[in-house]
Amino acid sequence: MARNPRVIVIDQDQIARSEVQKMLALSGFAVLGEAGYGIEAVSLAKEAEPDVVVVAIEEPVVRALQTVEAVADLLPQSPIVAYSSIKEPGSIRKAMLAGVSDYLTTPVQEEELVTSIHTVLATEERKRARISGEMEEPLACGTVLTVFGAKGGIGKTTISTNLATALVQKTNQSVTLVDLDTRFGDVAILMDIPVERSIADLALPEEEISREMLQDCLYTHNTGVTILPAPVRPTDWRNVHAGHIERVVTLLAQTYDYVILDTPGTFNDIVARALELATLVLLVATVDLASLKDTLLALDMLRSWNFPQEKVKLVINATNEASNIQPQEVKRMLGREVFWSIPYDRNISMATQLGMPVVVTKPSAKASESLVELAHVLSGVHQQGEGQRQQKRDGKGLFGRILGQLTEEKSEVKVE
Ligand SMILES: Nc1ncnc2c1ncn2[C@@H]1O[C@H](COP(=O)(O)OP(=O)(O)OP(=O)(O)O)[C@@H](O)[C@H]1O
Ligand SMILES: [Mg+2]
Repeated sequence: MARNPRVIVIDQDQIARSEVQKMLALSGFAVLGEAGYGIEAVSLAKEAEPDVVVVAIEEPVVRALQTVEAVADLLPQSPIVAYSSIKEPGSIRKAMLAGVSDYLTTPVQEEELVTSIHTVLATEERKRARISGEMEEPLACGTVLTVFGAKGGIGKTTISTNLATALVQKTNQSVTLVDLDTRFGDVAILMDIPVERSIADLALPEEEISREMLQDCLYTHNTGVTILPAPVRPTDWRNVHAGHIERVVTLLAQTYDYVILDTPGTFNDIVARALELATLVLLVATVDLASLKDTLLALDMLRSWNFPQEKVKLVINATNEASNIQPQEVKRMLGREVFWSIPYDRNISMATQLGMPVVVTKPSAKASESLVELAHVLSGVHQQGEGQRQQKRDGKGLFGRILGQLTEEKSEVKVE
């Protein structure tokens, strides 16, 4: 939408609504008017025909919802964003059923309101394009998991290979693991595979990269994981660009449930594209000051790109036996919850020697259990005989669980 979106504000409380109006005007929206509930709101909506309606849902809630319903009927193409001090799920549900597209709880932050309006407008725009046939049929798309970290040697490849294996073997998902380590791709070493063809063989004009060519470069490991290896010589990366990565990942995501992207300990255009393409980023850090400081910088960098924060999940991996940093300290330093923590486990380096993921060589090892559970959580496919806690998660759907409840449940860091 090229012009500034046009908005109206409906709130019984005149002081509150003029504050919201000011907030919206300062953020570049064209505020066409404000009104209280009932006839006043409906008349304004009819006259202004805004792109989006911002409405307070406060007592008397029945009137607020009646107003929402009337405005939704009058302007079916204008999404409605609600804000409210009421946090009960039942009330939120009623508001959604009345026609609200998003529901924010007060105090509403400017950034949150602006993001919400842009999101509901984008959804409406997609819906309109789909109905009018301007949009192509959506292609089946897998989940792209980018395993990223601010440093080398923190366990990114260990996590990528084990997670890929656990997703295939324990949750029956199809997985391709793409080695994007532009220095020394370690996936082939950790999985003990010969590298005959690699991603460097796909450095062609992007539109020429076909499914068949891609298939020729994939290696099927005996764990069931499909691997697109990195070239053996780092210099072979010189012809591979971010555009190639996008084409390859898009093609793979049309065929596989999961595309896991293992990244190097350095930052470059290819890593940037791997982050942009991610459905979810596992941001790996170890529990030492240098790693945490670098992780903080990585989080700042992502924030400066306006990277969606809910896509970034912090994974703490204990590569050392000793650590004197307490879990609360990690949370305080990084300002975010820990999504997952993997314990230190000697069996990991023993598995590396064998060229097999630890989840295969020693399934009972504590690191294996943690990595398998992570695969279950990410896939939403649960282990047989799991207890009530796991069942409780079942009802929420993959992203509900990942983005919500689990973040709280798994927020403890197990420093070994
Ligand atoms: N939880 C763990 N317990 C014990 N050792 C671990 C653990 N995680 C990783 N390691 C060991 O740490 C080392 C580095 O791991 P890995 O190669 O996966 O890191 P990386 O982040 O991929 O490094 P690079 O950026 O150089 O590719 C390896 O020797 C691995 O065996
Ligand atoms: Mg690595």
